[in-house]
Amino acid sequence: MCHEQMILLKIRKRLPLISNRNKTMPHIVIISSSIRKGRNSHRTALYFKNFIENKALASVELLDLKAYNFPLFEERLRFFDQPTALMLEFAEKIKNADGVLIVTPEYNGGYPSSLKNVIDLLYDEWKRKPVAISTNSGGPFGGTQVITSLQFSLWKIGAWTVPAMFPVPKVQDAFDEEGIPSDQAGTDKRAKAFIDELLWCINAKSKMP
Ligand SMILES: Cc1cc2nc3c(=O)[nH]c(=O)nc-3n(C[C@H](O)[C@H](O)[C@H](O)COP(=O)(O)O)c2cc1C
Repeated sequence: MCHEQMILLKIRKRLPLISNRNKTMPHIVIISSSIRKGRNSHRTALYFKNFIENKALASVELLDLKAYNFPLFEERLRFFDQPTALMLEFAEKIKNADGVLIVTPEYNGGYPSSLKNVIDLLYDEWKRKPVAISTNSGGPFGGTQVITSLQFSLWKIGAWTVPAMFPVPKVQDAFDEEGIPSDQAGTDKRAKAFIDELLWCINAKSKMP
């Protein structure tokens, strides 16, 4: 049985799509946004997954938009008559995450359509969701031109963007294909400060009624 068939079976039997996880820890979902062949920003997503796991900062799951392979945006999920199992799964994973870390490439000063596709697909799932952003580029500026447009879209949909940045210049040199950084100590130091901000927001939100 393929993954999509398993999800459909769970939906029909009204079983939870998310397996039980350690609720003593916050749960962070990482979205890897580039679906390009030969992509490099996925290395950053792999790095963060390993970093968060190894430091036991949270439970973590990587959602790879290349693997989801969603069709071009047509309508919001809540207006679909027959949403696909993968769309429902993705929505539930975002809904159940305590925080989201978006890893995005910079394409011509903006973020990719694959990412806009899933921001627009959902609605309630984004509401007050703490979201941290790591921008990535092949050039020297770390994709920082992406940040205002992406923050604006997330603000517009009601997400809570974390006021910390993790720009990655020359991402092809910053990490190898498995996400091992070329400067382990320096990258870990920066990552700790960045993830701490996300965890602070997750903790603050958990104290709200
Ligand atoms: C359509 C397109 C536009 C791009 N525009 C820029 C850019 O404006 N500035 C930059 O530094 N890199 C740019 N790049 C390079 C990407 O930032 C680079 O490929 C990087 O690895 C992140 O994207 P990736 O994860 O798809 O590889 C562009 C790449 C593509 C495919």
